[in-house]
Amino acid sequence: MVADELLEEIRARADITQLVGEYVQLRRSGRTYRGPCPLHGGEGPNFSVDPERGIFKCFVCGEGGDVFSFPMKLLGLDFIEAVKFVAERVGIVVPDVDRSKEEEDPYRDIREAVAFADEWFQKQLWDEKHGERARRYLLVDRGLSEESVRRFGFGYAPDSWRGLREAAGVHEISDDVLLRAGLIKASERAKEPYDMFRARLVIPIYNLRGRPIGFGGRLLADSDEAPKYINSPDTPIFHKGRIVYGLNWSRHAIRRQEVFYVVEGYMDLVSLVAAGVENVVAPLGTALTESQARLLSRYAKKALLLYDSDKAGLIATFKAADELLRVGVHPSVATLPRGEDPDSIVRKGGPDALAEYTDAAIDVLDRKIQILEKRGYLDTSEGKRRAVDAMMLSVRAAADEALCDIYLGRVASVTGVRRQTLERELQRPVGAPRRRRGPAQETGEPAQTVPKLGAERKLLLLLLRDRSLVPRVAGQVEPNSFRTPQYREIYQALLGAAEQAASGGRDDAGDLEWAEELAPALYERVRELTADPEELTNPEAVLDDAITRLRARALEKRLADLMTEVLVADTNAAVELATEIKKVRQELTALGSRLPGRGFFKGE
Ligand code: UTP
Ligand code: MN
Repeated sequence: MVADELLEEIRARADITQLVGEYVQLRRSGRTYRGPCPLHGGEGPNFSVDPERGIFKCFVCGEGGDVFSFPMKLLGLDFIEAVKFVAERVGIVVPDVDRSKEEEDPYRDIREAVAFADEWFQKQLWDEKHGERARRYLLVDRGLSEESVRRFGFGYAPDSWRGLREAAGVHEISDDVLLRAGLIKASERAKEPYDMFRARLVIPIYNLRGRPIGFGGRLLADSDEAPKYINSPDTPIFHKGRIVYGLNWSRHAIRRQEVFYVVEGYMDLVSLVAAGVENVVAPLGTALTESQARLLSRYAKKALLLYDSDKAGLIATFKAADELLRVGVHPSVATLPRGEDPDSIVRKGGPDALAEYTDAAIDVLDRKIQILEKRGYLDTSEGKRRAVDAMMLSVRAAADEALCDIYLGRVASVTGVRRQTLERELQRPVGAPRRRRGPAQETGEPAQTVPKLGAERKLLLLLLRDRSLVPRVAGQVEPNSFRTPQYREIYQALLGAAEQAASGGRDDAGDLEWAEELAPALYERVRELTADPEELTNPEAVLDDAITRLRARALEKRLADLMTEVLVADTNAAVELATEIKKVRQELTALGSRLPGRGFFKGE
């Protein structure tokens, strides 16, 4: 346990503004500081930090706490990890603790179950006969050393339905905990819950303190029936969108070298690190998210994207680059030969072979321009018009003002469009209709994209007050349109409950039974929202407004994706995509006109 005096000393020396300031830009506002909320990824200055009292609070997502709960919430650390995290920054050494103060950690049982599973998977790999094939795969087929395999903690999930569950049972780890840890699944067809990972190589995923929080699993042989990779589902300690694979090993190298490499998957990462290229990270089987980008931006302001060179890889590259630009990181892109990935390159030619490509990496906007040129976009006026759209996505995304400025100059010189015209274009959100404007209407603040987080909260307030609205909203608003992860999960649970009620399940409209499956923090949030006395005059209008905003947000995202996809599409697909883009633009315009006087296209 950490002595109370020591805790107090760390607390006293820590500067919460500085700690939070590593993640978001704060501005002084009287006695406190304000900025966008890093926990739910907000944009407005709704996150307040009070340095005197050493606390923070977000007025939108409702999260709050002190200098220790901040890293707990943001990075998924437990209490003691968070204390060490803060202590490190203020130069205090925390002696190794016996963890008897762990009642501070509400998810201790989940952490322990995951740690147990981690050990068990490794034991199956190394000590059991059935691990032999996986051992061979790693050591021979993938050419990894035993030292690397152990360092990365690889394990093996045997080809049985309940191996892990039974072993855990012997140690009195309950089904309930295993379920919440994402290690087993229940299904209607199976009488008993069964193991999540079966007949797979297991890749443990660690938090920044090097403790396992979830797993990836890879099939040993390609199959048409099952996906090559699966991951643990999100759990209270494992949020795929917020964790970056490999950062626990690479963060020191990244700080030292002031640049991080992003690869597409676990195996590329492991292969590079084993070859001595250490400043590497990978997202977890999904596109790079905003929170992952923000986390990475703390370690370096330069990134190098090392994705496959096929269409999917290029699209992923540009989308990841936009996320990085938005948090002030400057991405460049390495172009690998077709059919190769970083893993295959270092395995054939070692780190020097990879260096050839990383040395030749170019700025992401230049990479876009390269592609646009090669595909003849810059040869015609119509092509140039689309090229401007594609390039402006990067320009818009660039949070770094100087970089944004440089980009504007570059776009102007490549397309011949006047810089002032481009600057005006920049003032409008992605989907806004294009119109000639006179100088009188010129800019104030740069336009924000549509989202107004209040809309998410209000929508939930209304749904919680009248659950009969849920089916109606379900058809119009996708869970993914929610930006606040907490709200998204609550919305998803509401949808689930409505579906159950519709399929003849019990209708529990009055109570909160449906929310009991949520993580405790979320359940708490539901209770707070339910008790929220905010009066919403004219609920119909509020509902309509909230739905419209969320739909507009989804459409904007879709539009940006389409504009990235059209870049690399072949001619036929490009025609289809262009039609789709036109349609989405029209829908956005139509939605915009339904938000009278609210400045849909002017930011909020
Ligand atoms: P790839 O199919 O290119 O695999 O997927 P890879 O990384 O080269 O993997 P190996 O070398 O065949 O083992 C790239 C990444 O996309 C995710 C994984 O994170 C993978 O590393 N992915 C892929 C999935 O999440 N699910 C899948 O079914 C396939
Ligand atoms: Mn590969």
